[in-house]
Amino acid sequence: MEIQSKSSIQGEIKVPGDKSISHRSAIISSIIRGNVVIENFLFSEDCIRTIEILRKLGIKIEKLNSNLIIKGEGIENFKEPVEILDVGNSGTTIRIISGVLSATNFMSVLSGDRSVNSRPMDRIINPLNEMGANIYGRDNNTKAPLVIIGSSGLKGKEFLINISSAQVKSSIILAALHAKGETEIIQPNVSRDHTERMLEYFGANISYNGKRTKIIPGTKLRAKNVYIPGDISSAAYFIVAALILKGSHLIIKDVGINPTRCYFLEILKKMGGRITIKNIRNSGNEPFADIEVSYSNLNSIIIDKEKIPVIIDEIPIICVAAAKSDGKTIINGAGELRYKESDRISSIVSQFKKLGIKVKEKENNLIIEGDRNLRVSEGSVDSFGDHRIAMSLAILSLLSKNKVKILNSDCINTSFPSFKYILKKVLI
Ligand code: S3P
Repeated sequence: MEIQSKSSIQGEIKVPGDKSISHRSAIISSIIRGNVVIENFLFSEDCIRTIEILRKLGIKIEKLNSNLIIKGEGIENFKEPVEILDVGNSGTTIRIISGVLSATNFMSVLSGDRSVNSRPMDRIINPLNEMGANIYGRDNNTKAPLVIIGSSGLKGKEFLINISSAQVKSSIILAALHAKGETEIIQPNVSRDHTERMLEYFGANISYNGKRTKIIPGTKLRAKNVYIPGDISSAAYFIVAALILKGSHLIIKDVGINPTRCYFLEILKKMGGRITIKNIRNSGNEPFADIEVSYSNLNSIIIDKEKIPVIIDEIPIICVAAAKSDGKTIINGAGELRYKESDRISSIVSQFKKLGIKVKEKENNLIIEGDRNLRVSEGSVDSFGDHRIAMSLAILSLLSKNKVKILNSDCINTSFPSFKYILKKVLI
């Protein structure tokens, strides 16, 4: 992908459906008996992997325009897959679906691309095995491919876990729904709560309050239709583009504003960003709204480690805003970024440096020396096959003196296939 320097962005856009909610809507609808129509499903590579895997487990799924129709028959009617279940690049798929597969009465094998197969899986293998599943993984039970031998005799448990990961929490929740006895999960910090909200919407006995989630199994889930709001993590690229390009004004319609996902808006506002949330509505337990953004003079910020889980996917694009702000931004305790689609700390540091930005990594911290008059060097940068790095570099490159080439940008299709098209539409 080649990005030319641009002066501003203008207009009104919509971004595609939320990735986290799309995965969950497909997986959870499959374990319910009845038809669920999912409106505004995200047909990106990652979410399509989830659909293909569910089909291999015998679930009937149809696509009708931008909707998905899932004809669930309950977990008891899942079929043992005859092939390996290939998650591609999707960490959410492998971790969340493992929770469901743990509660079946058959064996399944999950594998992904090189990136997924090198990411830590012991974080789900250990708790699911403690509940009674039999999961085996490569590299001494820490990585995929995974072999899962499900069990209909899972036992509920209290988990005090040391990472705040929504994927881990969701995996345990989905196993806990089919276990005997209640399960409680306590995480050090708040992480996204889409699984909890969706299960509550379908009638599960679940309570959640920031760091604690409790599931009491045994309630029958009822099929209901789902509307998926626009993905705030996708909107984030356009929000930052409007903040850093002089004269910009942008409205993004129908974006999810779940409080466990939109803390980066507070950060950008504290930096001086002119962002207004309008027209707040609710659908299926998820709030959504329109977001209005205008060009702003930004200042640096210090971000505490407790907030990392709720801005985890937005850190690369926050770094872009920091690079165009006045002063030194410090992001503390961001070590989890090293286990994403790429080692995001090292991807950001190495590629921002190539564009002439002063950035350092110090253990798990990122330090960016901002410049409000930033113009980035021309040249070529690499996304390392990481969609969020590719899109962040694309937005940063709008500040180039001429042109920047972004290598390995096809990965954008994993979460936001229409990114380039929407960007072209609003750039002036
Ligand atoms: C996700 C949770 C986060 C996030 C990922 C999607 C989810 O991962 O980075 O893009 O849908 O649950 P972790 O749970 O590993 O923090």
